[in-house]
Amino acid sequence: MPEIPRQTIEEIRDRTDLIELVGRYVTLKSKGGSWVGLCPFHQEKSPSFNVVPSKGIYHCFGCGEGGDAFKFLMQHKGMSFVEAVKELAVPAGVELEERKLTTAERAAIAKKGGVREACKLASDWFHAQLLTSPKAAGAREYLEKRGLNAEAWDRFRLGFAPDSWTGLLDYLAGQGVDTELAIRAGLAKRNERRGSNYDVFRGRVIIPILDERDRPIAFGGRILEGDGPKYINSPETPLYTKSDTLYNLGFARGAIQRNKRVLLVEGYFDVISLALAGYPETVATCGTALTPGHMKVLRRLTDRAYALFDADEAGKRASDKSLPLFLDAGMEALRISVPDAKDPDEYIRAHGPEQFEELMKRARPLIVEFLERSMRRNGLSAGGRQRSMNEAIPLLHRLQGTSKDLAIVQAAGILGVPEATLRRAAGGNHFQEAPNQGGHHGARWVGNVELNHMLWLLLNFPDEVAEVLEDVEDPELVTGREDVMWVIGQLLGGVKLPEILAQLEDNDVVRVLQASAAKEGLYTQEQAPRVARQILFRLRIRATETELLSLRRELSACEGGPDGTKYRVLLKSQAGLQRELINLRRQSKASLT
Ligand code: UTP
Ligand code: MN
Repeated sequence: MPEIPRQTIEEIRDRTDLIELVGRYVTLKSKGGSWVGLCPFHQEKSPSFNVVPSKGIYHCFGCGEGGDAFKFLMQHKGMSFVEAVKELAVPAGVELEERKLTTAERAAIAKKGGVREACKLASDWFHAQLLTSPKAAGAREYLEKRGLNAEAWDRFRLGFAPDSWTGLLDYLAGQGVDTELAIRAGLAKRNERRGSNYDVFRGRVIIPILDERDRPIAFGGRILEGDGPKYINSPETPLYTKSDTLYNLGFARGAIQRNKRVLLVEGYFDVISLALAGYPETVATCGTALTPGHMKVLRRLTDRAYALFDADEAGKRASDKSLPLFLDAGMEALRISVPDAKDPDEYIRAHGPEQFEELMKRARPLIVEFLERSMRRNGLSAGGRQRSMNEAIPLLHRLQGTSKDLAIVQAAGILGVPEATLRRAAGGNHFQEAPNQGGHHGARWVGNVELNHMLWLLLNFPDEVAEVLEDVEDPELVTGREDVMWVIGQLLGGVKLPEILAQLEDNDVVRVLQASAAKEGLYTQEQAPRVARQILFRLRIRATETELLSLRRELSACEGGPDGTKYRVLLKSQAGLQRELINLRRQSKASLT
């Protein structure tokens, strides 16, 4: 489909009856200038989904989803943008004319088509060789030895290129693919000196790289043994650009969306091993570093990546290098370290999926690892801390939303600086701070960072948190809201979330809880008690600071006044509170190490 002119798109949007469109899926009630209903994109009991026909938009105040008519169809029906435009063009009475292709465009398509053909033929031939050729006996044995049986060969369409200079070229010629096309497809090369052509892949196991629609566009060829580079890869072709191609994306796509995460590894065989071991959401770059192009592809599918870099220095550098890419893409990135093994493939074959799952659970945010390394490098002196903070701030600046809050909380803990300082430096906060009582839109109760993270911990690791909360003397420290206190009691008592939600009256509390429940992997089980303790320290520090502040106000009010005794008493309590504050800060820092 050729590009649709912007003007046409606007015309369709203008002529679409948004209330009628949304009304097909959501029961809407008129309310002032807008229409409200129960949001189709998240669970809710009272309507926060608004459609504003005058603006041509919908928005949910509960989950934040929103957009125009096209976006609604994309979100609700899983259509692509073009599909949504086509769908709405008819009732809008707008004709989408199919623009005629220019000669250049037609030539480009023909060129791609030829390469596609050649790759398809080559892939099928390589695969057939692996299955039946006597010359492929060694390759079959090699793959079996790596734990890959015939089923896996099929699933990943593995192949074998016999050790011959023109095996593939001869086959392709017989299929009407001339040498020039084979070269353009990256399958053959020309030896100018000898005036002859030869196959690129010889005597290698072939791993075809498929596009998003599972069509082969390039190949990796792994040597079985002996000398020579471990892999020979297709060059870039009209079909194949390495900077935005991910190995296995076609198969992984659905699993990535379903599981709301992607596993990023380095090697083809790592992908194959993990996919077979129950992680179909695994992809790899094709022998290159990660690029913004890869991120763009992934970001459409998920906002969370588990990256498996090597445990060595090079792996750490690669990890630090990829961090800004993840941050810019708005993706949360966690790093899995694979111990005692060269790569994930070896690990999972040696230790099995259960052990690998343990590694997944111990995944740590890339940004945390980055900060820790930065601290180690710069040292714990005031100057070192400042340097580390300066390194962290540009990164934190790039973050948005809850991942920003989380990163700031974590970074403050690691750097040993007040969260508020970091938050100011990194540009604003996301969770509103103080609870407020208003009932109107935009002024609802949203909890606060400490409470929301505590709730998350309670939802995920109640036992670990129970230990820590036992020592709290003043229950109002965590929250002043009675219903939230009740929720905490229920969670500590092992009551399941749906039961708690069902009994809650206040929608804001429901939403805060659901938001917490929807987040995954903020902290590990091992971190849970430490984080809970940190949160309590922060709450105590904040409470003491507030107390100190009001004391200061009182002090300045009676300074130089007639009541000298009161003034002295206040001064004394001020000194006490200051000591307490210093104490708390020291303890808080000490508990981090
Ligand atoms: P690895 O050396 O880790 O390969 O390189 P691997 O996939 O784990 O292979 P095995 O397990 O040793 O058989 C990781 C990736 O780097 C690229 C390939 O994409 C490979 O999958 N690479 C590596 C090359 O392109 N050329 C090479 O010579 C080596
Ligand atoms: Mn490997």
